[in-house]
Amino acid sequence: MTAASADSVFVTRSEGISAEGVRDQYADGKAAKVWEIFIGDKNSRTDNYKKFLINLLRAKNCKRILDVACGTGVDSIMLLEEGFEVVSVDASDKMLKYALKERWNRRKEPAFDRWIIEEANWLTLYDDIKDVVKGGFDAVLCLGNSFAHLMDSSPQQLEHKKAIRNFEMCLRPGGMLLIDHRNYDNILETGSTPAKSLYYNTSHTADIKTSVLFYCGKPAMVTMDYQIEANNLKSEFRLSYYPHALNQFSNILKEIFGAKAEHQLFGDFKDLSVVKNPAFYIHLIQKPLN
Ligand SMILES: C[S@@+](CC[C@H](N)C(=O)[O-])C[C@H]1O[C@@H](n2cnc3c(N)ncnc32)[C@H](O)[C@@H]1O
Repeated sequence: MTAASADSVFVTRSEGISAEGVRDQYADGKAAKVWEIFIGDKNSRTDNYKKFLINLLRAKNCKRILDVACGTGVDSIMLLEEGFEVVSVDASDKMLKYALKERWNRRKEPAFDRWIIEEANWLTLYDDIKDVVKGGFDAVLCLGNSFAHLMDSSPQQLEHKKAIRNFEMCLRPGGMLLIDHRNYDNILETGSTPAKSLYYNTSHTADIKTSVLFYCGKPAMVTMDYQIEANNLKSEFRLSYYPHALNQFSNILKEIFGAKAEHQLFGDFKDLSVVKNPAFYIHLIQKPLN
């Protein structure tokens, strides 16, 4: 049994499958609907996260941003409000529906009128959006533990490399990719996932039950069952992730961006020297100028 077929045996509660291309775990709309509740008020980012992202983008002189996992549009909207030019893409039309609705509601604001939202898949990203890439973006963002949704059954992680290559192709020389993943090294060691969100000030109790599927003695997939309580209602949805090991992930980034690329690593939006065992790793890798 390959990890890909294991994925289909280990049935997800929220098991949407897109008509073509990559499996859309959000296709039945369940997680999309609950996501809005899960993340709470769109303005209520944790200060750490908001400051980290905005300060970093400004410090690196980034103006044109590509959000490749925009989901319901939560990060993109914050960036538009902060004066950045944003193009947002996602593979799930059920998630995009919420972003499109917000753009329509705020269409009289020039930044929202100019906001480009497209359906696109990381595996074909450059081809999907080459008309809007032009000279390349100043920054590509893939945040919120999104990249780990992409499963890869090949031992060389060919699909992961293909997706990262597409992100790199969308950047201008000197542009940066900001991409995160949960601390799967720790999740595999402890068998549990911290429920508290570092990204959002969600007021709803969220429990995350974690299971790990092994293939040939190696962890192939981590499944998280989210339980959200809001207005006396209990909602549940299940999402599956590829358990990226920190070293392996860093090596893929360096392989695609080249030896000259500057790679910086953060833990929970702080320098790694002050966070020993973070819940999230955030990688910043800069495309060399030549
Ligand atoms: C966890 S949500 C995060 C959304 C948003 N960044 C946030 O923090 O709220 C992950 C998003 O990644 C998208 N996604 C997963 N695989 C994808 C792929 N191969 N191509 C494009 N988007 C994908 C999903 O559709 C989903 O909207």
